[in-house]
Amino acid sequence: AIDIRSLRDSTGLITYDPGFGNTGSCSSAITFMDGERGILRYRGIPIEQLAERSTFVETAYLLITGKLPNREELTHTSVMLNDASLLHEDMKIFYQNYPSKAHPMGILSAMVNAMRSFYPELIDLEEDISITFLRLISKVRTMAAMAYKISKGHKTVYPRPDYSYAANFLHMMFDNPVIPYEMDYDMVQALNVFWILHADHEQNCSTAAVRVVGSGQVNVYAAISAGISALWGPLHGGANQAVIGMLEQIRNEGLTISKAVAKAKDKNDPFRLMGFGHRVYKTYDPRAKIMKKMCDLILKKDRPAENGGMDPLLDIAMALEDAALADPYFQEKNLYPNVDFYSGIVLRAMGIPTNMFTVMFAIGRLPGWLAQWREDALDPLRKISRPRQVYTGETITDYTPMDER
Ligand code: ACO
Repeated sequence: AIDIRSLRDSTGLITYDPGFGNTGSCSSAITFMDGERGILRYRGIPIEQLAERSTFVETAYLLITGKLPNREELTHTSVMLNDASLLHEDMKIFYQNYPSKAHPMGILSAMVNAMRSFYPELIDLEEDISITFLRLISKVRTMAAMAYKISKGHKTVYPRPDYSYAANFLHMMFDNPVIPYEMDYDMVQALNVFWILHADHEQNCSTAAVRVVGSGQVNVYAAISAGISALWGPLHGGANQAVIGMLEQIRNEGLTISKAVAKAKDKNDPFRLMGFGHRVYKTYDPRAKIMKKMCDLILKKDRPAENGGMDPLLDIAMALEDAALADPYFQEKNLYPNVDFYSGIVLRAMGIPTNMFTVMFAIGRLPGWLAQWREDALDPLRKISRPRQVYTGETITDYTPMDER
């Protein structure tokens, strides 16, 4: 029970909104979402059009600057991204000093925070897209690929200037001196689409973290590092990893689909349908529809499951989706697949290990975080974020000396 008197203080009435479900924390011109109708637009452009016609780099430019680049601007951005792709050699020490089982999200957030010490130049906020932003977008991809190579005990692979942003990531991840990686342009397209779909999603948990931390006027690397940490959780970016865990559990334990659905409905069972439900979407997540199509593009019959072959987990996922959508519990609560439901299957088909799924999400979300950080920094009405609370503790109590406790 809340003591209603505590909702008032000298500054007036305080709203109490756990999880901020109904609280607008800023005004923004970046991303539009309509959760009832399943609409998502970046700078007014429907996500379906961007997924079909754009690339991740172009979409990043759109989010940050507010407009699509012309040919010259896009070429310039790509050249700058290529120029910035190498890591300072001294940063490699991070990988060596982490335990081999360390989660790559922890390593990534620490390395991004450390970038401030390696690249301390200040950002010119008036510039449409600053070198600091391009450096972050480019190097985060290199850091992720290097983390993977080092975790495998393999030699790191440097980026190639003739490859696009997405192709270069696959090259750095999978090329090796014994078996050179043969570029598969369906995979490159699927990766572009995966990153485009994740590039922004208005005031979600990690973006809100970037804005809140940024409002204290920390440097951009510290704010992005906070976003990466927030994304790590299984209710947010960690859900794509959790979906695969859930599908494997269903397969390995021989759970029937109806048993899995029953477990998800049982409030005494911690099992939830991961990749289902969303704070804003009360209908099918438009990104999940596109991600499902990507499964059709890249899953090929003639390949092993870990490298683009037919994945038995996809059959389980589709059966689970059908059963849940037909179930009154999920219907009444408006629980539909979200972007994470099929994204893990797409990433698995690319050969991305499960513990790197959330890192893949972070690379994709980075342009959105940067766009939101910049919008906030340029907002003349910006104030330091400082929510209030409803105090429920003792009103006043005396200090008890140690001997009397
Ligand atoms: N499986 C079973 N029941 C669910 C699920 C689910 N996946 N999601 C929500 N519910 C139920 C809750 O138990 C709750 O039931 P109740 O009203 O009887 O108590 C009701 O639906 C509302 O759920 P909340 O958790 O209160 O909704 P909220 O908006 O706070 O949470 C969230 C949204 C975190 C996404 C939730 O649906 C969930 O945990 N989903 C699974 C994790 C997931 O897929 N996360 C990815 C989100 S998308 C992203 O970050 C990219």
